[in-house]
Amino acid sequence: MGNKTFKKLNYSILPTPIHKLENLSKYLNANIYCKRDDLTGFAFGGNKTRKLDYLIYEAVEKEADTIVAVGAYQSNFCRIASAYGAACGLDVRLVLGGKKPEKATANLMLDYLFGADVSDVDSFEWNDWEERAKQLTEELKAKGKKVYYMPIGGSTKTGALGYVDCMKEIKEYSETNGTEFKQIFHATGSAGTQSGLVSGKALTGWQGLINGIAITKNSEQIKKEVKQLAEETGKLLEVTIKDEDIIVDDNYIGEAYGLETEAAKEAIKLFAKFEGILLDNVYSGKAASGMIDYIRKGMIKSSDNVLFIHTGGNIQLFK
Ligand SMILES: Cc1ncc(COP(=O)(O)O)c(C=O)c1O
Repeated sequence: MGNKTFKKLNYSILPTPIHKLENLSKYLNANIYCKRDDLTGFAFGGNKTRKLDYLIYEAVEKEADTIVAVGAYQSNFCRIASAYGAACGLDVRLVLGGKKPEKATANLMLDYLFGADVSDVDSFEWNDWEERAKQLTEELKAKGKKVYYMPIGGSTKTGALGYVDCMKEIKEYSETNGTEFKQIFHATGSAGTQSGLVSGKALTGWQGLINGIAITKNSEQIKKEVKQLAEETGKLLEVTIKDEDIIVDDNYIGEAYGLETEAAKEAIKLFAKFEGILLDNVYSGKAASGMIDYIRKGMIKSSDNVLFIHTGGNIQLFK
């Protein structure tokens, strides 16, 4: 990466394809391309496989025998962490919060199938989940386990390196195909994806706007988190992060994280009907609804190429 290289595992199938969404573009009078990070492959793919390529490498390198991951019951990160741990011979301990579902479906069903051990937290507060996960980590260490702890979404500077790679792939695609993107849209939640992209922009000199569509928290909070993590990642890469490169729009969350919006439902239908691509109600559907709204409001010139990074999560449709 630049002159520096960082070691990782290679379970993600990379680079993911970029292709034009011809039908949707015609319908919206725009030039929309999609980077198919829903097709990273391993354990149904999504943005978290890129992060886990680096995180699990680090866990194995540090001779961990157990990983602790934390998230909501339908966490995409925890699903892929469970699969990664299983494939690498690690014990997987998940701390999952929210309202415990009566039936394990979608991501949660897969967590169990991959053999993860689940601890429940009866709270909607992310802080409570992380507190319990840290407590569990200490309990396991006291029993002699070598634990590698991953925060929500795997959003550390190590995890963010996965999205520095993604930015490099986008730059390479543009250079090879002569297609420049003016704007990127993607769902932003725990700051890891956006921090990686923003650091990747600083590293590669990519010109364009990275619009993080907020899914979890207000834009001020997410911007703060992205700034901190991008600066940490930037230090690894020896690049400087510019504040103006951190753009977060929180107009598409709706009532709350995880709750459906009419706009996201429409985006899911449009992507399915015009392109045969599946989005979800929690992340990619809301991010796409933001991009569509920008296009309809004329905030993107119809001649400009815009890139939607599909970060996955469509397992949620089977909840
Ligand atoms: C499908 C999907 N898209 C986007 C995101 C947001 O990524 P990040 O947490 O790195 O901001 C997540 C996070 O859980 C996700 O599961």
